[in-house]
Amino acid sequence: MITNDIFYVGVNDKTLDLFEGQYVIPNGIAYNSYVIMDDAIAIMDTVDKRKTGEYLENLEKVLGGRTPDYLVISHLEPDHASSIQALVEKYPGIKLVSNAKAFQMLPQFSPGDLGETIVVKEGDTLELGHHTLTFVMAPMVHWPEVMMTYDREAKVLFSADAFGKFGSLDAKEPWDDEARRYYFNIVGKYGTQVQAVLKKAAALDIGIICPLHGPVLKETIGHVLELYKTWSSYEAESKGVFIGYASLHGNTAEAARKLAGILEAKGCKDVAVMDLARCDGAKALENAFRYDRMVLAASSYNGGVVPCMEDFLHHLKGKGFQKRTVGLMENGAWAPSAVKTMKEILSQMKDVTVVEPVVTIRGAVKESDEAALEQLAESLM
Ligand code: FEO
Repeated sequence: MITNDIFYVGVNDKTLDLFEGQYVIPNGIAYNSYVIMDDAIAIMDTVDKRKTGEYLENLEKVLGGRTPDYLVISHLEPDHASSIQALVEKYPGIKLVSNAKAFQMLPQFSPGDLGETIVVKEGDTLELGHHTLTFVMAPMVHWPEVMMTYDREAKVLFSADAFGKFGSLDAKEPWDDEARRYYFNIVGKYGTQVQAVLKKAAALDIGIICPLHGPVLKETIGHVLELYKTWSSYEAESKGVFIGYASLHGNTAEAARKLAGILEAKGCKDVAVMDLARCDGAKALENAFRYDRMVLAASSYNGGVVPCMEDFLHHLKGKGFQKRTVGLMENGAWAPSAVKTMKEILSQMKDVTVVEPVVTIRGAVKESDEAALEQLAESLM
């Protein structure tokens, strides 16, 4: 129960191996859906079809024999929309409420007859009795048809994917970490669009946020809004250094760890070191955005750089990585080439400054390399 007449009917999914076919979710994921029980009943989104049966059971219990009047669709991504067909089959009189773009896209996912539709646009309202729903368009946060819904009476913002996180609802984990990993990997590219919707949200009196993933937010709303302001503006959240390395024989890894030790000895309190060949790439990407400085260390390979490092850089570019200070290290026994390739990709990003010196290791890390590591650490302080 969210309020005396708004209920949770979503489900946890702890059996999915990869969210969106690419992100590890060790603690599962929740597909949230809500019901507003008023004179007219509105359902806010459905769930992934992996869980349709459990979802319809949850819904039936809350409805207590009544029939829903409206299904409000925030967007068409299948983790929320692929049970629409089943819902309409169970409650054939239900009216679907969404924007024109969503209805244009709906047949791609649900080609059957879905009954009556109500097309809404920015600022339109839907009266349920005591509750009035106002629709707030949020294009490209993170699909083009996304809209949020504000319930003025209950002061509830149904925020679509915004303010969501990985993890099922019973997962014991800090909200910030899995929300940050979710944000930068799912929404990160669309900072400008998130800023636009945050401006609209600032004009609303919000007491409760009901996202499509993760817990309902009440006491922490101020905190999560501040985080979203930081994340969407591509400013660093934490002072610290993320070091990502890709090492063929362990020497580059050793150089990366040595640099971390030097930075810590110089007073850098937060240094996160990750092996890009073996770590969760989504966590590495999250760390790159989280900290104000990054170091990339990689072996040379095929006249360029080790593929997992190249992949990582392309992911950063795709997500709009910018406004950061970056240090570079390469290893190459006969023709070091990693830095050139890394610089080429970094040069395509906005406001990324590569500090001097770039460090070149040849094979094993030797005493003679330590001065360069020291200088790089100094440049990063
Ligand atoms: Fe959770 Fe955009 O779907």
